[in-house]
Amino acid sequence: MDHFEYRNGRLWCEGVPAEDLAARFGTPLYVYSRATLEGHYDRLAAAFADLRPLICYSIKSCSNVHVCRVLVERGAGLDAVSGGEVERARRAGCPMERVVYAGVGKTDAEIEDALCGMGSASLPAHGQAARARLAHATRIGLFNIESEPEFENIARLARERGVRCRGALRINPDVDPKTHAYTSTGRKESKFGVGIARAVRFFERYGRDEWLTLDALHLHIGSPVYETGPYVEAIRKTLGLIDDLAGRGFTVRTLDLGGGFGADYETERSPRAADYAAAIVPLLRERVAGGLSIILEPGRQISANAGVLLTKVLYVKDGGGGKRFIIGDAGMHTLIRPALYGSFHFIWPASPAGGASGGVPARRTGVPDLPGLSPCDVVGPICESADFLAKDRMLPPVSRGDVLAVFAAGAYGMSMASTYNTQPLPAEVMVEGDAARVIRRRQALDELLAPEA
Ligand SMILES: Cc1ncc(COP(=O)(O)O)c(C=O)c1O
Repeated sequence: MDHFEYRNGRLWCEGVPAEDLAARFGTPLYVYSRATLEGHYDRLAAAFADLRPLICYSIKSCSNVHVCRVLVERGAGLDAVSGGEVERARRAGCPMERVVYAGVGKTDAEIEDALCGMGSASLPAHGQAARARLAHATRIGLFNIESEPEFENIARLARERGVRCRGALRINPDVDPKTHAYTSTGRKESKFGVGIARAVRFFERYGRDEWLTLDALHLHIGSPVYETGPYVEAIRKTLGLIDDLAGRGFTVRTLDLGGGFGADYETERSPRAADYAAAIVPLLRERVAGGLSIILEPGRQISANAGVLLTKVLYVKDGGGGKRFIIGDAGMHTLIRPALYGSFHFIWPASPAGGASGGVPARRTGVPDLPGLSPCDVVGPICESADFLAKDRMLPPVSRGDVLAVFAAGAYGMSMASTYNTQPLPAEVMVEGDAARVIRRRQALDELLAPEA
């Protein structure tokens, strides 16, 4: 699952005790394990090897350039959803043809940068030749396109700039991913993509564009998707569409399956990479042999379990009725998933009372099978009742100054953090064996306030 484990009653990240990291770098602190990132990527690559996919790690899940670089060095491409993320991909050293660019609201400046390279929007219009030369090296691999007006806009900009590019139409296969409503994206009422019938009309209208070659399909049904069935249903529908399009003279060369593979927020919560692959690979093996190329966009399955959030207990408050409030320095501003989606994160002291003789449950779960626990809300310093990391959670005794670890916080943790209540952003640290380095320094209050100076 990951390289965060208790040894003799202390939490270790690879070869470094979590408490040492908290003492050295302060809290709240995001800690990533390089070995975990690499292990998750490698397992996905091995599981799907028969399809020879381009695995485009979803930047949005954990955006730090150093995290992206670890994966790019492993052979990953990157899935970006904004001009900012395309720039992160560049800084991570990702060859631009390995970048896919999705998102329903791409601006003209973002599209130009993705077409022609960062800063190209400021080149004069007559600098077309220079732009086209630059584009060879800096153009992203695939625009994932969500609507007719977006297609027209990208095609227009490509024509005006004299730069050819490729597009995938995002389709909406109308399957239920059985996940939170906020992260269900493949149903027909979703703002993403177009339905299958509309996709046919889309190809008939735009499938022969000279500047924006439409020869790919993209889908992302939601996340996390804890069953393989919705993928199977979505892929079957999509293969039907590919055959229909072939009959009309349109060849789909690339199929981007999106992301959404689950992570172990609880021990063994999610299917493994191999389980997803066992359901998906047989559907696509022959198509790949026939020339179809496959893209995957996993985020959380790579990054979620690769990160923990360390928070220090500021106060323990008796809430009456036997409930305690554990008030820490991390809250909804540091990790918004519990407040936004009601998400579960396993939380446990980095050095629980009981030390080497026990005090650590065998499984990460909301109801640990240990004596001496009592119900707690783990909350932050933010002035909102939604500011919690866990509610009614059975936890052992903790005291002011203790460090708590919030597990599986690598995905949609730091990348969704905010400065609400004028709280500076936390630091991020990468652990590699028994070494740890800062990969994003803690935001200083002066930096936070600088734009208002
Ligand atoms: C288009 C697309 N691809 C990939 C992902 C990554 O999802 P996950 O991190 O669950 O794998 C998302 C997440 O929202 C997405 O919208």
